[in-house]
Amino acid sequence: MELSRDMMRETARGFSRYYNPKLHGELRLDTNTNVLGSNPAAEEYLANGKWNLDSYPNTYSDGLREALGELYGCTAENIVCGNGSDELLDITFKTFTNWGDNSVVPVPSYSLYDYFVKCNGGRAIEVDLTEDFQLDVDPMVKQDAKVAIMPSPNNPTGNCFRSRDLEEILERFNGIVVVDEAYGEYSSESMVRRTEEFDNLVVLRTFSKAYAMAALRVGYAVTNTRLADMMMCVKIPYSLNMVSEGAAIAAVKDQDFIRRSVDMVSEQRPVLARELERLGFEPFPSDSNFILARAPIDHAVLVQGLKERGVLIRDFGSKRRTENCVRTTVGTAEHNAFLIEKVEEVLAECR
Ligand SMILES: Cc1ncc(COP(=O)(O)O)c(C=O)c1O
Repeated sequence: MELSRDMMRETARGFSRYYNPKLHGELRLDTNTNVLGSNPAAEEYLANGKWNLDSYPNTYSDGLREALGELYGCTAENIVCGNGSDELLDITFKTFTNWGDNSVVPVPSYSLYDYFVKCNGGRAIEVDLTEDFQLDVDPMVKQDAKVAIMPSPNNPTGNCFRSRDLEEILERFNGIVVVDEAYGEYSSESMVRRTEEFDNLVVLRTFSKAYAMAALRVGYAVTNTRLADMMMCVKIPYSLNMVSEGAAIAAVKDQDFIRRSVDMVSEQRPVLARELERLGFEPFPSDSNFILARAPIDHAVLVQGLKERGVLIRDFGSKRRTENCVRTTVGTAEHNAFLIEKVEEVLAECR
């Protein structure tokens, strides 16, 4: 048998593998995870936990859905849990799109949207953000599409979209509107408590960022009970394992850690932005735990130079709209000082 890419699903033939750097103990400021380290309540749960490994987990993670319902003042029936919010993205397109259907994706935004649309046999209609990285409402709502998806705060630009633009999209777009709040804890704007106001709103959240549990892969959707039921019928049963579910329930109950994490970012983000500016970068405004900045030297030289000096940041410099830009997580004061010291070394070498 002759093996070729033509064997693949048509819409997936152009795929390449996802970001997978070889690690040598570098400081990781490339994934926007919580730099304070593992979630303490989850760690304690894992240290003391005892599980029946011979049993399946609860089919739909009812315990976690109840804990999240309490957190947001809704019911467990408004929540769908899964293996990272990436699984919820997959479930969304699996549930609401057919082969060949269009979905609207803003540019620049999270790179895996395009992947999940195409994995499910759909087409991604890209609509550019405005000059100041806000939603261009009119061309988004006019598309003949089943789903419109947008992260707020946006990755990689860091800013939130205006609430009135999100509301206008929800009112005018004739399909499901997904607001991906993977970084929602860092922002004062959120749609997570407004899912009963709009019959087409799905909000996604994750335990991978502020909750400091990326290793355990837990994400969820908050939506009205009708859409949640449709999504649960499509979702792979048991996809969230019982160890991760238990750790996430413990983490929901420790909101102090989330507040501490968010406060640290609010304090450090302006300090890091100022330092980057001092070195000739152009940082963009951020409502999240990371900063996108245009670099004063070639982006690839900078990212490689930092890697050689023990710091990973993410390179967006070859992509349209983020030309010569890099994205760094906001670290602790010590992390940021280390990053700035290494940036200074790379800049000195280039001059
Ligand atoms: C905007 C956005 N959505 C979703 C995700 C995926 O998160 P998870 O780890 O929950 O799959 C990420 C991860 O970087 C993200 O940046």
